Amino acid sequence: AQERTLSIIKPDAVAKNAVGDIISRFEKAGLQVVACKMVSLSQEKAEGFYAEHSERPFFKDLVSFMTSGPVVVQVLEGDNAIAKNRELMGATDPKKAEAGTIRADFATSIDANAVHGSDAPESAQREVAYFFSDEEICPRG
Ligand code: CMP
Repeated sequence: AQERTLSIIKPDAVAKNAVGDIISRFEKAGLQVVACKMVSLSQEKAEGFYAEHSERPFFKDLVSFMTSGPVVVQVLEGDNAIAKNRELMGATDPKKAEAGTIRADFATSIDANAVHGSDAPESAQREVAYFFSDEEICPRG
């Protein structure tokens, strides 16, 4: 089915100048960028985004990493977009990511893991709305 998912290119990948390479992988896989912006996340914005992880031991480091430099947030649209994006990203821990995936190629650690992607339809809907208003999303039909 046609889906939308939220993708974030994290500060480590932005710092490596890998924005174009990563977006190119999405496009080559048939996903369309229907919204895109670069933002520097405030602590509050990052904490709200990752609220479900607030009790996890890695939460503080995660928020501190996500506010360490600009990120590029995008809405990707396409057939099976949520799973397709997760396949392209590879496992959360780059040591476990399959060869040829974004994390295998660009990530350096489980924190600096290059990209985030929504993991289910409910989180995709929440995460897209967390960053984009309806007017900022440009369906391409
Ligand atoms: P992300 O998909 O952005 O969602 C939460 C992030 O927490 C995850 O990617 C990792 O970068 C980071 N993280 C750090 N430690 C862990 C862990 N042990 N398990 C899951 N995520 C972790």
